[in-house]
Amino acid sequence: MKILITGGAGFIGSHVAERLLERGDSVTCVDNFSENYEPEIKKRNIRQAMQNKNYRLYREDVLNLKAMEAIFRQAMPERVIHLAAKVGVRPSISEPLPYVETNIKGTMNMLELARKQGIKNFVFASSSSVYGANKKVPFSEDDKTDRPISPYGATKKSGELLCYSYHELHRMNITCLRFFTAYGERGRPDMAPYKFTRLISEGKEIEMYGDGRTKRDYTYIADIVSGITEALDRELGYETINLGNSEAVELRHLIELIEKETGKKARIKQLPMQPGDLPATYADIAKAKRLLGFSPKTKIETGIKRLVSWYRENKQ
Ligand SMILES: NC(=O)c1ccc[n+]([C@@H]2O[C@H](COP(=O)([O-])OP(=O)(O)OC[C@H]3O[C@@H](n4cnc5c(N)ncnc54)[C@H](O)[C@@H]3O)[C@@H](O)[C@H]2O)c1
Repeated sequence: MKILITGGAGFIGSHVAERLLERGDSVTCVDNFSENYEPEIKKRNIRQAMQNKNYRLYREDVLNLKAMEAIFRQAMPERVIHLAAKVGVRPSISEPLPYVETNIKGTMNMLELARKQGIKNFVFASSSSVYGANKKVPFSEDDKTDRPISPYGATKKSGELLCYSYHELHRMNITCLRFFTAYGERGRPDMAPYKFTRLISEGKEIEMYGDGRTKRDYTYIADIVSGITEALDRELGYETINLGNSEAVELRHLIELIEKETGKKARIKQLPMQPGDLPATYADIAKAKRLLGFSPKTKIETGIKRLVSWYRENKQ
């Protein structure tokens, strides 16, 4: 099968590409190597995939419709995984416009090209942030998602709405996957699991927003990838599906696990909670189990062990 992945050089995209190549698919990766973190890291992310003859990289921006159209013509993908996005909740508050551009217009471009190409299966990377300050846990797909509390969350919800209209109008199968804090090897440097691993390993201070009791549903990357490939393979009409570990972990516990694996004590600077921060994210994954056979296999203790040991071997 020929698969096109946008944002394919990023954390999640590079892992998905490797999984698809392993099972014999051809992968076209589109990524503009944006500077949300060092582009060199993204080059390293795809080093292994680049060795594979079934892998093709295009350094392109999903906002460039003409160039993207040419890529679709050349690659002739049968399925699309749209991961390219401006990421991060906090920076979306101070600089929202690029989020609207990439996450809404970029998604529109991809849906339109997919329609023209006659793509039957489209997977869209949504986020737990669409749930806003939802107090009812665990978060279920039936909960309200019309009150996101950051521009990032609002752009992800907008993406889901565009996906719905394309499904309705053009009978495309579109699955919007709401990821809950993915972590693991090659993790995003701006996210707590990787950032704290680096800072604690280097003996540097970490900033902890709130009293450490905020909870996140940390989902190990291999489990996220399994959910994505299952969604890619199924014709489900239109669905929004949570991909989480369904286990809320306190920030303090995450820090303790990293301390244990690095063998170093964290130097913690406590700061107030930031606007846009959620007290807890926690996924109800019954729907993912039912529709995708999703069953996360990696407990946080194991995932952090793997992240820290990968960090030790790969730190530059
Ligand atoms: N990592 C998580 O915990 C998490 C949680 C919820 C949702 N998501 C979503 O999953 C997707 C992947 O996230 P990630 O953590 O791998 O982030 P990432 O930043 O590592 O990957 C995103 C990739 O998209 C590329 N990109 C950005 N703008 C682009 C553009 N205009 N054209 C082409 N490429 C572009 C970036 O260069 C980057 O390589 C994103 O849509 C993100 O919003 C991630």
